[in-house]
Amino acid sequence: MSPASAEAATDMVAAERPHLHSGSGRVERLLARFHQVRNFTNALCTGLEPEDCVVQSMPDVSPTKWHLAHTTWFFETFILKKFVPGYRPEIPEYAYLFNSYYNAAGDMHRRDLRGLISRPTVRDAQRYRASIDLHIENLLSNADEKLLDDIEPILVLGRHHEQQHQELLITDIKHVFAQNPLYPVFRAGRARHSVRAEERTATECRPYRFVDFEEATVAIGHDGRGFAYDNEGPRHQALIPVFSLASRPVTNGEYIAFIEDNGYRRPEFWLSLGWMTVNEQRWQAPLYWTKHDGAWWHFTLSGFRTVDESEPVTHVSYFEADAYANWAGARLATEFEWERAALDGPIDGNFVEDELFHPAPTAVASAVSAEKTAQDEDLHQMFGDVWEWTRSAYSPYPGYRPAPGALGEYNGKFMCNQYVLRGGSCATSRSHIRRTYRNFFQPEKRWQFTGIRLARDPE
Ligand SMILES: [Fe+2]
Repeated sequence: MSPASAEAATDMVAAERPHLHSGSGRVERLLARFHQVRNFTNALCTGLEPEDCVVQSMPDVSPTKWHLAHTTWFFETFILKKFVPGYRPEIPEYAYLFNSYYNAAGDMHRRDLRGLISRPTVRDAQRYRASIDLHIENLLSNADEKLLDDIEPILVLGRHHEQQHQELLITDIKHVFAQNPLYPVFRAGRARHSVRAEERTATECRPYRFVDFEEATVAIGHDGRGFAYDNEGPRHQALIPVFSLASRPVTNGEYIAFIEDNGYRRPEFWLSLGWMTVNEQRWQAPLYWTKHDGAWWHFTLSGFRTVDESEPVTHVSYFEADAYANWAGARLATEFEWERAALDGPIDGNFVEDELFHPAPTAVASAVSAEKTAQDEDLHQMFGDVWEWTRSAYSPYPGYRPAPGALGEYNGKFMCNQYVLRGGSCATSRSHIRRTYRNFFQPEKRWQFTGIRLARDPE
């Protein structure tokens, strides 16, 4: 169907329903949030050329074009096809190309071959976005309260789904650009950093301390107010024995000490599977790091530059996080310890809206007096900057049941061989993260903004 006939179809849909809600606050609010998220995806692509948007640099990475179309397919499949009577997709083949993993929604194209698809073009994907947005706008503008009640939960899920893909879009384009010896820049400048990277040293960082938590029985999981994914429930009581949590994430400078102490060559710190992976993959440092003339450099979304020792270390696997913790005489937190520790603090930090696209440095010692440091009971950078690996396997909470149908495939079927990460990163939207949010990845994955916070048991 041509864009013109799509427009005609849209008009037809609009004509079929009475304008019950034009100007209604609920519809305006829903549409405003919908467009805000959709527009932010488009804004992330500003500066990307079509050639950038089609590359798949490894099976885990999806081309930008695919993210643009898949997030659109989500709204088309789970809202338009379900709620628009007689809805006919403009290009039915998109259902196959842009389904990710929903078996109940039909067959799908192979994930590792997404980079081989030159058609539809990037421009076609953008047209697809605009067309579906228009259909959603028409559907909502003409829906009665009952229909809105049915659509709203899926619309909200689709918004959060798109925010997840915004983060993937950023980490995927970073991986794509990192393969290029010209090291393209995604966003120039890191203006919010007042101190140049070369001027920082590890000794300038405020040292971390351990904040103690008494044994307690704590309610874990989402309380049902506002949106949450199904994997954040059911809310349940968990006994959390006494533990301590580091006041901030591990920095690059601290991680370099682990590397220089031959951490990557000493099996005593590593899980068996981790040790196998380090040797097979020949890891010697976090992803994107290279040593030049005795100094560590890394690729960032602002280009190739020296490693700033005061920034939280990122692009480390669970295996590296665990090995580092062992080397440091500590351990990783459980996800329950992390959630308990995050209960009282604000959800504040360096998120994607800050447009750094990189973790922000920890507070420098010169800015914090020794006395204040000693008295500081706060946890810093719990949210934003880097996702923190926990030692908790990604498993269902007691009583968890995935929803029936295709949307039940969103989380539940991935509860095997993955670890939970908490807190969000510099590529996460502020409006997307929660204290109860459970991200999850396989232990060898390194291309997300993943980092380390230490925990320990009482001595
Ligand atoms: Fe998806």
